[in-house]
Amino acid sequence: MNVADSEVVVAILSDLGFELTDSIGEAGLILINTCSIRENAEQRIWGRLKAISHYKKKDNRIMIGLIGCMAERLKEKVIEKEHIVDMVIGPDAYRDLPSLISEAESGHKAVNVLLSKEETYAGISPVRMDKNGVTSFVSIMRGCNNMCAYCVVPYVRGAERSRDPESILNEVNELWANGYREVTLLGQNVDSYSWEYEGHKTGFSELIEKVALVNPLLRVRFSTSHPKDISDKLLYTISKYNNICKHIHLPVQSGSSRILKLMNREYTREWYMDRIKAIRSIIPDCAVSTDIIAGFCSETEEDHKETLSLIEWAGFDFAYMFKYSERPGTKAARKYKDDIPEEIKTRRLNEIISVQNKISARSKKQDIGRIFEVLIEGNSKRSQDYLSGRTTQNKVVVFPENGCKRGDYVNVHVERCTSATLIGRIN
Ligand code: 5AD
Ligand code: SF4
Repeated sequence: MNVADSEVVVAILSDLGFELTDSIGEAGLILINTCSIRENAEQRIWGRLKAISHYKKKDNRIMIGLIGCMAERLKEKVIEKEHIVDMVIGPDAYRDLPSLISEAESGHKAVNVLLSKEETYAGISPVRMDKNGVTSFVSIMRGCNNMCAYCVVPYVRGAERSRDPESILNEVNELWANGYREVTLLGQNVDSYSWEYEGHKTGFSELIEKVALVNPLLRVRFSTSHPKDISDKLLYTISKYNNICKHIHLPVQSGSSRILKLMNREYTREWYMDRIKAIRSIIPDCAVSTDIIAGFCSETEEDHKETLSLIEWAGFDFAYMFKYSERPGTKAARKYKDDIPEEIKTRRLNEIISVQNKISARSKKQDIGRIFEVLIEGNSKRSQDYLSGRTTQNKVVVFPENGCKRGDYVNVHVERCTSATLIGRIN
């Protein structure tokens, strides 16, 4: 989401005559796009600000701006804590960049952290910062109306709003015309995408279908789905189109219904299991990944074991796993005690990681001997003679280049694997 937002920011700055640079030493304007989801994300930003302070000390004309969720959460406090910051700009205020920059240039600290009910940055053509020219993000909505007790997102990104499908399709068509072969539709909860025009409703199933129809050679991915909202209708749409990728990111957070209730997730363990069964029956060979939080308030060993057993049962292909981090202002911070000691959180997280690693390894081993259609994204990190791409299930495959190039689809026969990668040759 932040990568997509940065691309909107670069588009706005390009109109002002700025150019993007790879080298920070060359920059006259340094913007740091920030995340507030866990405390360590914010700690890293304070460290980064310290690390770049010498640029400002050397040349006072260099402007430094903190943008995104941390700017929204801390507002003027950012400047009180770190004087090198000239601008603090929340995620809905990027259109105001031109006037904020001139304000900062005239020597005043500039702050805009207003959240909007409408802003979707429709009409702005993001300037792509990716290097491969094959895969791209497309933001389809902003904000979030779910009040998960642990989560800061609704406070820093505001209320949910969907983007006009016409502007989404324009962006996707432009990407296709520019050689892109994969788009990832982004929203905090894509299943609640909703647009109404002259009595005609577009939900997420209709939207993804329209995007898939742009071209059968354009792969479509999406993130993130919410287990309470993901519908069979969407699953049938995914199964109907070959170019809608067979991968669903479905964050479970916990395997314990008691904890899920405290988290305000609005589903139970059984409901989640039912959704997984629906995915397995409607979309054969669909990969499922998830997010898990270890050590949420009041979590017992019993609750934790339920998370471990659910991970085993679901057989996730991939998982992002975190220790619970209390975020000021959230329901959990206001109402519950962050009462799981750090060393227990760490131990539970390590147990979760070790079960998941075992399952990820098993899922990769099962892929050995199979043939997958792979969209080539570029050279592999290790060698110029090897190419790297992904399967529809989002698994990374590396193989000898054999005259092929990025953007091509090839069938790859998988011969072996490492912990993160499948390795094979073009069939
Ligand atoms: N502590 C730890 N993890 C969190 N996430 C969101 N808020 C927190 C928090 N306070 C995780 C959730 C979410 C992912 C994006 O980040 O698992 O799905
Ligand atoms: Fe946060 Fe829940 Fe919204 Fe995801 S759905 S962004 S976890 S509040």
